[in-house]
Amino acid sequence: MASASEARRGIVLFGAHGQLGRALTRALAGLGPVYALSHADCDITDEAAVHELVQRLRPGIIVNAAAYTAVDKAETECDAALRINAHAPGYLADAALAVGAWLVHYSTDYVFDGAAARPYREDDPTAPLNVYGETKRLGEEAVLARPITAFVLRTAWLYDREGRNFLTTIQRLAAQGPLRIVADQYGSPTPVTVLAQVTRAIMAHPRAADCAGLYHAACAGVTSWHGFAEAIVRSLGLAVAVSPIATADYRTAARRPAYSVLDGGRLKERLGIVLPPWDRALAELLTGAP
Ligand SMILES: NC(=O)c1ccc[n+]([C@@H]2O[C@H](COP(=O)([O-])OP(=O)(O)OC[C@H]3O[C@@H](n4cnc5c(N)ncnc54)[C@H](OP(=O)(O)O)[C@@H]3O)[C@@H](O)[C@H]2O)c1
Repeated sequence: MASASEARRGIVLFGAHGQLGRALTRALAGLGPVYALSHADCDITDEAAVHELVQRLRPGIIVNAAAYTAVDKAETECDAALRINAHAPGYLADAALAVGAWLVHYSTDYVFDGAAARPYREDDPTAPLNVYGETKRLGEEAVLARPITAFVLRTAWLYDREGRNFLTTIQRLAAQGPLRIVADQYGSPTPVTVLAQVTRAIMAHPRAADCAGLYHAACAGVTSWHGFAEAIVRSLGLAVAVSPIATADYRTAARRPAYSVLDGGRLKERLGIVLPPWDRALAELLTGAP
């Protein structure tokens, strides 16, 4: 696949040690030099540090996989969530503007309130139910307000075979006894490997420069957390019962949307990129298939 000249100038990746960041480090290799930066390498809330680094490396593309992602903790750590998710993306966008770089940024299905009766499209009104969703919504706005080539990818229910996520949590809890999992929240589980490949495909797309903007990038299809847990248990051959419970029976600090399915039509129409159904993506992740 041909790589865009922007990628050949270099890709600066922030948040490289997060679950998406690790997948991006692998997926973007070969498009151009990748400067994979952890939190320790650069704190994205340090505006001067971000500018100095970007000026020094002068990349063609900046990718922001760094975020405050602790949805429940964000309810009490609003300031930290705001600085990382809302203010810092603006610093990255300003830095991109200063060197003429593209910016790829990620957002969430939790910008929606979950009251819809069909998959959400990019221009549907946002109405986050929790602090995390609100800070991510502000981050989207900060990026899209700058006159740069920016791709903001809203994704959902990210997971991987390692790290802290729903898949590894189910694996751990299954060893301890029967599982009770929320069955009335619906969404689309998306492996980080799939989102990283989508990111690569956008960067390498010959018309990408004309297609900047906001996109929904989650796997196709829909399930509940309970359905996702059942699929994990079945795929891994774990001998454990998985019972459905209601959100009301599982108290969390943050409210979550009951339905946050994302319509992937814009990504398909403008860039010809289609994400696989969530259950096939899970099977492929677990078997190591491409
Ligand atoms: N996880 C999901 O289910 C989900 C769903 C929808 C959308 N998203 C979005 O997808 C993107 C990737 O999420 P993820 O699941 O890969 O997150 P993650 O695993 O929590 O990784 C986030 C990374 O950001 C780093 N970070 C935090 N604050 C930072 C700062 N001030 N400066 C630099 N780095 C900082 C963290 O480092 P430390 O750990 O060292 O602080 C961590 O490595 C985010 O934009 C997230 O909002 C995630």
